[in-house]
Amino acid sequence: MKIDILTLFPGMFEGLLSESIIKRAIDKGLVKIQIHDIRKYSKDPHKKVDDYGFGGGQGMVLMPEPIFDAVEDLKEENSLVIMMTPQGKTFEQKIAYALTKEKHLIIICGHYEGFDERIRSIVDLELSIGDYILTGGEIASMVITDSVVRLIDGVIEEESHLNDSFNNNLLDYPVYTKPQDFRGMKVPEVLLSGHHENIRKWRYEQQLERTKERRPDLLKKG
Ligand code: ADE
Repeated sequence: MKIDILTLFPGMFEGLLSESIIKRAIDKGLVKIQIHDIRKYSKDPHKKVDDYGFGGGQGMVLMPEPIFDAVEDLKEENSLVIMMTPQGKTFEQKIAYALTKEKHLIIICGHYEGFDERIRSIVDLELSIGDYILTGGEIASMVITDSVVRLIDGVIEEESHLNDSFNNNLLDYPVYTKPQDFRGMKVPEVLLSGHHENIRKWRYEQQLERTKERRPDLLKKG
């Protein structure tokens, strides 16, 4: 898979690309991620990419031309163009799985007051990561990238994501490691029993209980 991210702040992505699982996926050639500075596509001598919105109001609006030029430059036959915006569809695990089927994602990150409305005409999917406002789409695009890349075949062991919370609308069961007794808090006996069937049942019950208590809305999703 290839992911091209358009941003006014390329430096924000340094950590994402140079650490942990995402870095390993890049090094193994399982994903190619490129960060593009939108200013590079500005035809203005001062590399201007935003301006005041018509009709007044606060803040700057991203102009259409540099974004159109960037998308036209990067777009291939099978590209999916995504815009990060709090007005988009709320991102969830199901969408992350669907995106792993794509060959090429182009993700547009806005900043400031918003995008010129005409940019929406070249976008296939608008995504939000939740009902709160970030300073821009950069962190949101990293959330999407991280959650999609870890699902690409070969990035992590399949078993680790088959058991993820949300796959079956259930939260994860509790896990423990050494020591067996930490300040009087003991690891549940069943986990030390070596009885696989009992462990499986216990974990499933814990998942149901936790989900009922913390996220009853997930159980209703069916
Ligand atoms: N840009 C600003 N806030 C955002 C959000 N919650 N999701 C996606 N993009 C955003």
